[in-house]
Amino acid sequence: MTRTVYLNGDYLPETEAKVSIFDRGFLMSDGVYEVTSVLGGKLIDFAGHCARLGRSLSELGMAAPCSDAELLAIHRELVTLNDITDGMIYLQVTRGNPGDRDFAYPPADTKPTLVLFTQNKPGLADAPAAKTGWKVISVADERWGRRDIKTTQLLYPSMAKMMAKAAHVDDAWFVEDGMVTEGTSNNAYIVKGNRIITRALSHDILHGITRAAVLRFAAEAQMEVEERNFTIAEAQQADEAFVTSASAFVMPVVEIDGAAVGTGAVGHLVPRLREIYLEEMAKAAI
Ligand code: PDD
Repeated sequence: MTRTVYLNGDYLPETEAKVSIFDRGFLMSDGVYEVTSVLGGKLIDFAGHCARLGRSLSELGMAAPCSDAELLAIHRELVTLNDITDGMIYLQVTRGNPGDRDFAYPPADTKPTLVLFTQNKPGLADAPAAKTGWKVISVADERWGRRDIKTTQLLYPSMAKMMAKAAHVDDAWFVEDGMVTEGTSNNAYIVKGNRIITRALSHDILHGITRAAVLRFAAEAQMEVEERNFTIAEAQQADEAFVTSASAFVMPVVEIDGAAVGTGAVGHLVPRLREIYLEEMAKAAI
């Protein structure tokens, strides 16, 4: 089935949606994005993704392309038009098309480009990997210094994903100054006893929407939460480890740089956290 995508006010077959070669997103990676999951035809944590989009836009001095209510309507229309039960909606806003290439930003009234498309993933919440866990390697974090802004500059995370593939593992954890920052496209955590440890929010990591919900549910479920840096060595000696993102939800990590985490099998706390997250988010989905 040909997807119907959204481009600047129009719903179009994917083959007919065209963006200018002068678009700032294409030439400068001058754009921000969001990925929102759909479960049972409903949007997971839409308000969180909308709020972070607003923050990314304002940090870059970019105008919002439309209101949050309009964004919600577009998301819902794409879910309907593409008959999505489970999957993701990708949204991207760029600084638009100034009609030429220039390092300076175009005039503030340049129309932003707004693109959305769906990714159909039947059974997204039942990913088999959640039962076996991911293996990860560590790689140097060589991204820019404003990782809290969700920009489309994803070349280094793509390179890290290829390093992981070459090492026959599932993903990579970035390390800077000896400390884990986050995964290629997820936030990273370790578990010791009843305590969940994850890096505190700063410019060094993306402020994950899934992270915020998981830490809230963990505290409600009487798990302790400690926001601090940790090393790969500490992670290898932890009882459990995991990552979170809008598409992987809560995903166990069972091996880091070839060393088993805990028993090397999926533990108890992480699957419980995944269950709580999916249950609560499904209840609140819109
Ligand atoms: N990635 N850290 C990075 C670097 C990310 O790219 C992501 C999300 C996260 C988790 O954020 P959230 O919980 O809000 O999804 C953390 C998305 C899913 C992606 O690029 O596809």
